[in-house]
Amino acid sequence: MSKQKVVILSPFPISEEARERWRRKFPNFDFIFHLKTWGEPRAVETVPDEDWKKTVALFTPSALPAPEQVPKLQFVQLSSAGANMIINHPLYKDTNITFTSAKGAYDPQIAEWAVSTFIGVRHHLYRYHEQQKQRLWNRILDPVPSSVGQTVGILGYGSIGRQVARVSQALGIKVHAYTLHPKNTPESRRSESGLADNLGDPEGTIPEKWYSGTTKEELHEFLGSDLDWLLISVPLTAKTKHLIAREELQVLSKKRAFISNIARGPIVQTDDLVEALENGSIAGAALDVTDPEPLPKEHPLWNAPNTIITPHISAFSTAAPDRVLRIFEYNLEQLVAGKKLINIIDRKENY
Ligand SMILES: *[C@@H]1O[C@H](CO)[C@@H](O)[C@H](O)[C@H]1NC(C)=O
Ligand SMILES: *[C@@H]1O[C@H](CO)[C@@H](O)[C@H](O)[C@H]1NC(C)=O
Repeated sequence: MSKQKVVILSPFPISEEARERWRRKFPNFDFIFHLKTWGEPRAVETVPDEDWKKTVALFTPSALPAPEQVPKLQFVQLSSAGANMIINHPLYKDTNITFTSAKGAYDPQIAEWAVSTFIGVRHHLYRYHEQQKQRLWNRILDPVPSSVGQTVGILGYGSIGRQVARVSQALGIKVHAYTLHPKNTPESRRSESGLADNLGDPEGTIPEKWYSGTTKEELHEFLGSDLDWLLISVPLTAKTKHLIAREELQVLSKKRAFISNIARGPIVQTDDLVEALENGSIAGAALDVTDPEPLPKEHPLWNAPNTIITPHISAFSTAAPDRVLRIFEYNLEQLVAGKKLINIIDRKENY
């Protein structure tokens, strides 16, 4: 009888060492590797139907087989922290197969991106770099605000937001947290995301203030809480699409906040953001994600003042693959042991 299959459609290489470890740890599984796939649906065709029939676990950026192809499939590990790209796929929509995310794997790197770009824009580093290319010794006299005592609002206090909170706290920045559901007790403030290594804010003790809710009033109360910096770190769902638009930018303009988006482009209404940046009511923006992506060459966002844009790379690091694969390996162990997996995507909230 041939073994159960574990299919790995991986965007990154998988070391011989990891493969060997998995073969030893999971002798009942036959691992099928297909590397360097970024979620192209064609990746599914590279695995023969015979193998799909026996597949019990799948690791993938987003490419998914049809439900009828995988009668034995028990769980899908996504290589990303978000799930927005798969929620309309029948394998997710029409089955109860467990989906897990890589939440937690990218926190340190994304937090580095968020803090360094925020500080980099405020310290005029990008403008100085332009000058350096022209060998110009020219002081820019626009004052650099001191971050000490300022406030960052973290919209979505998940595992990424918590690591930004930790680094911000070290810089003397106060933290206000916003969550979908109220977090009024110490237990509810704890983080559930798996395999953290002494980073972030696992106990939820860093924020000075907590906000929550789904209404505009609740959101505006948070945005109006004297924020100098807004970090957008909510997942993209039907509830968060265009969550930050004209009215929200208006609230943020009271303190001329700076906006960072490391989540997904469509959470922000791009035209409104461009206008707010151009008219100076918002101090600047650091955007690793845009709407649309890729951002077309002629798009006005490219030229918005005090704005830095990167092509959805904030999660990249030499450590990320290993951290993602540790979550997958842990979940495989839990599966074999018949125990609860971590980072399970909630079918109601879609993250
Ligand atoms: C999934 O689970 C729900 C709740 O237990 C159930 O109502 C539904 O029929 C299940 N769907 C499938 C496709 O098995
Ligand atoms: C600047 O743009 C924002 C965002 O669209 C808008 O709400 C605001 O009224 C504008 N402010 C000024 C001073 O023009």
